[in-house]
Amino acid sequence: MTSPRSRISKAVIPAAGLGTRFLPATKATPKEMLPVVDQPAIQYVVEEATSAGLTDVLMITGRNKRPLEDHFDRNYELEETLRRKGDESRLSRVQQSSELATMHYVRQGDPKGLGHAVLCAAPHVGEQPFAVLLGDDLIDPRDPLLTRMTAVQEQHGGSVVALLEVDPEQVHLYGCAAVEPTGEDGVVRVTGLVEKPEPGEAPSNFAVIGRYVLDPAVFGVLRRTGPGRGGEIQLTDALQSMAEDPGIGGPVHGVIFRGRRYDTGDRGDYLRTIVRLACEREDLGPDFRAWLSTYVNEEMRTLD
Ligand code: UTP
Repeated sequence: MTSPRSRISKAVIPAAGLGTRFLPATKATPKEMLPVVDQPAIQYVVEEATSAGLTDVLMITGRNKRPLEDHFDRNYELEETLRRKGDESRLSRVQQSSELATMHYVRQGDPKGLGHAVLCAAPHVGEQPFAVLLGDDLIDPRDPLLTRMTAVQEQHGGSVVALLEVDPEQVHLYGCAAVEPTGEDGVVRVTGLVEKPEPGEAPSNFAVIGRYVLDPAVFGVLRRTGPGRGGEIQLTDALQSMAEDPGIGGPVHGVIFRGRRYDTGDRGDYLRTIVRLACEREDLGPDFRAWLSTYVNEEMRTLD
């Protein structure tokens, strides 16, 4: 495989969606700011980008961008208060988010779809391959997916998507990939992509999840891509054109992800994520697990 030092340094994080599945919580707050235990979902995503060596982060924001910007900025008043109280532990946690990466922001204006959000990154990204991390999709840090994807991109060129094998009944909820083996474990060649296929029309049960490493040729393709499924400009449609014609921006490969992923844009998955991560925390876990076990054994029976 390739050297661990990746030349990909820019990460784009789309966070301008309306978050309708989470209304009314997301009426005035981006869904990416919803807390997962005690830090907003988006901070896990930025931490993942920086762990993979991507220290230049462009966030695509929407109408409620203030909380996102504020979270990754310094808060001198709060820091001073914590310093005066001698609360060093909270002080360092507050400072941590403002020291993670070099943050940039661009507004999407109208949320016309993920493809349109990615296109907003074109002037910032320039001519280098770059990563896209969806702001509501969390990958467990113990299962480093992005590092693997950047290595595959360096080896093969072109673009790389992350694939998760899902139940065939779930495929209609995702972009779905037609794939061919490459001979390399966990890496496939993507020959086609369909956004949220109708039952019976899915080319496989490999779902595209929210991590991409893209060739900058994607911007030209997105400019020519009209509204697709749901009337939105779909990143999947642009990637389909690139998978079909490697002459555009090189081949499209898929890295098959077998690790832990949490979709915090979905209410059920959001709740499961919090319970799971809280149980695993060293500080909160012991008390929380004891409570949860009692709750499940005793209280739940009264709810049935
Ligand atoms: P989703 O489809 O999950 O986001 O997009 P959404 O539209 O906000 O969700 P619901 O269905 O209404 O609840 C995946 C990611 O792409 C971003 C979202 O913020 C999310 O992180 N996105 C989506 C944009 O930045 N702009 C868009 O126009 C659409």
